[in-house]
Amino acid sequence: MILFKQIEALKKHLAQISGSIGFVPTMGALHEGHLSLIEKSNSENDITVCSIFVNPLQFNNKEDLKKYPRTLPQDMTLLKEHNCDIVFAPNAEEIYKVDSDSVLDFNVGLLDTLFEGSLRPGHFKGVAIIVNKLFDIVKPKHAYFGLKDYQQCMLIDKLVTDLKLPVQLHFCPTLRESDGLAMSSRNARLSELARQSAPRIYECLNYAKANYRTKNITSIEEWCKSHLLEDALYTLEYFNIVNAETLMPIENSKEKAVALCAAFLDGVRLIDNLVLN
Ligand code: PAJ
Repeated sequence: MILFKQIEALKKHLAQISGSIGFVPTMGALHEGHLSLIEKSNSENDITVCSIFVNPLQFNNKEDLKKYPRTLPQDMTLLKEHNCDIVFAPNAEEIYKVDSDSVLDFNVGLLDTLFEGSLRPGHFKGVAIIVNKLFDIVKPKHAYFGLKDYQQCMLIDKLVTDLKLPVQLHFCPTLRESDGLAMSSRNARLSELARQSAPRIYECLNYAKANYRTKNITSIEEWCKSHLLEDALYTLEYFNIVNAETLMPIENSKEKAVALCAAFLDGVRLIDNLVLN
């Protein structure tokens, strides 16, 4: 496994590779969810590239950026164990050089006004800018993203479609702890007590799935909100069942539906989702 920190050195190396390149962009603090993407890429490509870059542009909250775990040595060990071929771990100066190509002016569209988009102003634009830059550097044939970040998958899909980027996207299932908590780099910040409360989110998502056919949407959403809030460690940002392609309210039961949830658990922000039908 080779580590690159400089764009030009990585580009030079990749230019000599003739096989297919699979790409997994991350912000590090890797867990099994990330590693499942590496494994998927390995199984479908000759070479797997993983990027590790905590992208300041996508953090609307400076404290969150500061607190984001940075664990490059452990990440490198895990990537090596999982047969990743190339790690790209640049610093912010390298990525956002003053003389680098102009910052992408991508129109995020409606995504910016819904759920994560409205609660984290600028977040999706920041993600679009970095993913576009990384695609331009790595030029992968295939790129792998987790459905854990449901709206992010929609954004990347829009980015690739709107800019006609030559990359095939793969959106992969969410890996969970045995009690249902979606794996996330932020879980390490949960206190022991909060960790015990964390499966409630998945309980709600499963309740929504089990009852979607028979109960009305508002009553399901209300049940889920009160199930979360009866635990005093939770504050809720949203729990909604919406059209899985447009994120708009459901009008008839034949539409593909997704339940989306964001909540603070003892001060740690968790998001999760489940497709219901
Ligand atoms: P990060 O949060 O590090 O996630 C990297 C990738 O891992 C994303 O595609 C994310 O959806 C996926 N992932 C996270 N938790 C997962 C889980 N439990 N199961 C399966 N996949 C999971 O998402 C980002 O970084 C950044 O926004 C990035 C795309 C790298 C741009 O900066």
